[in-house]
Amino acid sequence: SELKQLIQQLPKAELHLHIEGTLEPELMWRLAKKHDIALPFSSVEAIQEAYQFNNLQSFLDLYYQGADVLRDEDDFFELMWAYLCQCQQQNIVHTEIMFDPQTHTERGIGYNVFMPGFAKAIEKAKAELGVSVYLILSFLRHLSEDSAIQTLQEAKPFYSMITAVGLDSSELGNPPSKFTRAFAQAASQGFKLVAHAGEEGPPEYVWEAINLLKVDRIDHGVRSIEDPILMAYLKEHQVPLTVCPLSNLKLCVVDDISQHNIVDLLNDGLRVMVNSDDPSYFGGYLNENFFALVDKLSLNKEDAVKLISNSFSASFLPDKQKQIWL
Ligand code: ADE
Ligand code: ZN
Repeated sequence: SELKQLIQQLPKAELHLHIEGTLEPELMWRLAKKHDIALPFSSVEAIQEAYQFNNLQSFLDLYYQGADVLRDEDDFFELMWAYLCQCQQQNIVHTEIMFDPQTHTERGIGYNVFMPGFAKAIEKAKAELGVSVYLILSFLRHLSEDSAIQTLQEAKPFYSMITAVGLDSSELGNPPSKFTRAFAQAASQGFKLVAHAGEEGPPEYVWEAINLLKVDRIDHGVRSIEDPILMAYLKEHQVPLTVCPLSNLKLCVVDDISQHNIVDLLNDGLRVMVNSDDPSYFGGYLNENFFALVDKLSLNKEDAVKLISNSFSASFLPDKQKQIWL
């Protein structure tokens, strides 16, 4: 359609993307062969077919298992480079990418392996693709706060590569309040702050992320709609919500895209935008997320343009650079 063509062609920013969630089955298969790792799948197609989830945890189990094929610097280069090439294809001109250090350090793969791999791909993308990239170091919330603090300290040699600190993994039972000290330390080092909240967890977790962690953005946040006082706060303060429609569908946060509340949130005056979260696992990159909204939610042109302008205004780009795109 004309609208889909417009969406494809407009310059966009992506603010909620896990690099480990861009690992395509083909690359997983090739890296398993390279490192002689036995996968519990008989073919690339079998990997694809396993991507059916009941909830966040059933996805996370597969996602951490998949990440185990990432072993050396070149693997991390390939992973990052493949996503940044997708950005060029999709007209994503700026992306703020989450990475989960603990997914790797817990397996004995250190910052000295993955950061140089990421750095090479990011430098190459800047030069050859014209894509701008920020990195968000995300803590795994199912692990302890002490582990998060250690993870932040170990990143010190690479602070210049990192813009923000985030919080992801199993939400229920791991409220933001568990990470108050870790986030205070990150703030004092000058990092921007984000946290997943209100994906599976209640509005109370969104309040905690705002009041205790003092985040600049909420990742997901779709359950905020259950709390009118929270909705009023998010609107008044224009707290960005990085919404991920296909993710919410695949993880059964919503039963159908036609029931997704992203357009309601937008029309209520909240600063929401579209993101892909873990595109390899959820069946689409950024444009496919928009296309699902066009097909199932009758997204109109005005709303599409607003969602895209929100992707820049909610980014961590300096104001001067935002102006170029707004
Ligand atoms: N890690 C990767 N994707 C995630 C999601 N959607 N929620 C929580 N943790 C994640
Ligand atoms: Zn996420």
